[in-house]
Order: sequence, then structure tokens, then C-alpha cells
Amino acid sequence: MNEIRLSSEKRLRLFTGRAYPELAEEVAAELGIPITPTSAYDFANGEIFVRFEESVRGSDAFVIQSHSAPVNKQIMEQLIMVDALKRASAKRITVVLPFYAYARQDKKHRGREPISARLMADLFKTAGADRLMCVDLHTSQIQGFFDGPVDHLFALPLLTNYVGSKVDRKNLVIVSPDSGRVRVAERWSEMLGGTSIAFIHKTRDPRVPNESTTGKVVGDVKGMTCVVIDDMIDTAGTITKAVDALIDAGAKDVIIAATHAVLSGPAVDRLKKSRVSEVVVTNTLPISEESRFDNLTVLSIAPLLARAMKEVFEDGSVTSLFDGHS
Ligand code: R5P
Repeated sequence: MNEIRLSSEKRLRLFTGRAYPELAEEVAAELGIPITPTSAYDFANGEIFVRFEESVRGSDAFVIQSHSAPVNKQIMEQLIMVDALKRASAKRITVVLPFYAYARQDKKHRGREPISARLMADLFKTAGADRLMCVDLHTSQIQGFFDGPVDHLFALPLLTNYVGSKVDRKNLVIVSPDSGRVRVAERWSEMLGGTSIAFIHKTRDPRVPNESTTGKVVGDVKGMTCVVIDDMIDTAGTITKAVDALIDAGAKDVIIAATHAVLSGPAVDRLKKSRVSEVVVTNTLPISEESRFDNLTVLSIAPLLARAMKEVFEDGSVTSLFDGHS
């Protein structure tokens, strides 16, 4: 009689969309597993087709996709991958969002506006996601939009370790580019042993996208090295205006540190022309060769993603990755 072996062991499987396979490859190398081969192509009218080349039944599936431009296409491809996994009987599906697109639309500023960040969470749930894994959400409350576990990872230790190794901490000021990010500046300060903090008084017209007006520097920055922190650099308007305001207020030098290098439109040109000493970002989004410049430093988020995936797969603790910052 043939022996039937029963096994309830899950298999960790990593899947990547086409937006930024290089990041998935880095994560796969960290985990020591291959990426599950996937065919994906576009039909003439832009519709997307996806098929996995191996059985995914019973797997603990992690689907990684960076929401880079064209954002809507990358999101749709990831949704289709999740749908395919659900229909192919993956045991658990974790959607890995190194950069959660639409996160800035997390509330209604005026009547008749969407809450697109919520819609994103609903779409992934409907497609079949059991859990989300994200890095530096625009606001932490977005976690509550998804009906299920959300692993919210922070690039803070990665960025502070790097910046901390390069500056004289005694003459350091952490600067929030607006009043809304002061809490994050405080966490930077704690991680760097208690530096002082400043912020830029910024006003924004919600009817005009990507336009901000920088006001005055609140805090003492004269003769100091300033680190301006932000979750993302999109057109670089916010951050380069902050650099100008700080230098004009007497700062010795300014470093920019941001997690997500969206780098749309004029961003690279603005950063190159800016009086900033160094721009430090992570690779949650792809950065093309043409978008790289001399004082740009790109730190890899892959080890953090890989550690978090391992913890989730092994039912360990993702909180333990935050060095006490849960
Ligand atoms: C705003 O609330 C965000 O945290 C960023 O400061 C902003 O989205 C960056 O956009 P930009 O680079 O286009 O000024």
C-alpha cells in the first residue's frame, strides 16, 4: 500500500510584481530562498495578466511590490497577484508595501473628497490579503484602515545609525519640516542620545497638490548641523524649502533624511541645486541611475523586510525589530 505522508508545514514563498524586482531579490537573498517564478504581461489595452509557474497551495505567501510610478498599474498588478494566490489556495497572504501609495489621502480635508488610503486597504482585503506589511506609513492611523494584522516597520534605526555615525551629536538639531512630524523628530532625538529639535512652520493649500509655503524656523539652529527628516521626498518642494530656511537662519550645514524617495518631476533637479550636504533615503522605491547624484546615499531596507517576514513566518515577534519603539 502506498504511504500517504501528511504534512502541515507551511512554506514561505516570496512573490514580486514587476515594479522593483531588485528589492525582492535582495530580500530573497537575505532569506536564502528563491523568488517564486511568475509570468506577468500587459495586454494591448493595458490590462495585466499574472500566473505563477509553480504550485502555491498551502504556502505562506509574501507579495512584494513597490508603488512607484505609474502607481495605479503597480497597485493593480499586486491586487491581481493576491487574487491569483487566493484562488490557488495559498494558506496565508501577506501584502508587502515598502511604500504605501495614496497614504497622504488619509482623511477628508474638505467635503466631497475620498479617503483613498482607506480604499487601498479595502482593495487589498477584498483581493484576499490576510495581513499587510508596510514601512513608515505617512500616518500610523492608516494601520486601522485594514481589517487584519498590519506590521508597521520603521526605517528609523537604519537612518539614525547611518546619520549618527557621520555627525557630531553635540552640535546636532533634528528638524521636522512641518509641525505634524515633530513626534518623529523626538524619536530621532531619543535614538541619537537627546539632541535638540526644531521645526519649520509650513502652510499648505489643500486644493493645490505638491505645493507648500515654508514659513519660519521654530528653534535655535545657528551654527548647528541640522537633519531634516520626512517620510517621503516627492517633488522635493517641502524639503528643499526647509533647507533654505535653515541655512538662512544660520545653520552650519543640513542633511536630509527621508524613507521614501518618490522623486517625482522636479525633485532631482531641486535636490541637486539645493544647499544640502547629503540626502539620505532608503530603497523602498526604485531609484533610476539618472535620478542618482553625488551626495545621495541610498540605504537598503531589504534586511529589515526580510527579518520581519521571517518573524511573521515563524510566529515570532515583529515588535522586537523596533529596538523598543513599538
Ligand atoms: C507631507 O505631509 C509629506 O510628509 C511630505 O512632506 C510631502 O508629501 C513631500 O512632498 P514634496 O516633496 O512634493 O514637497
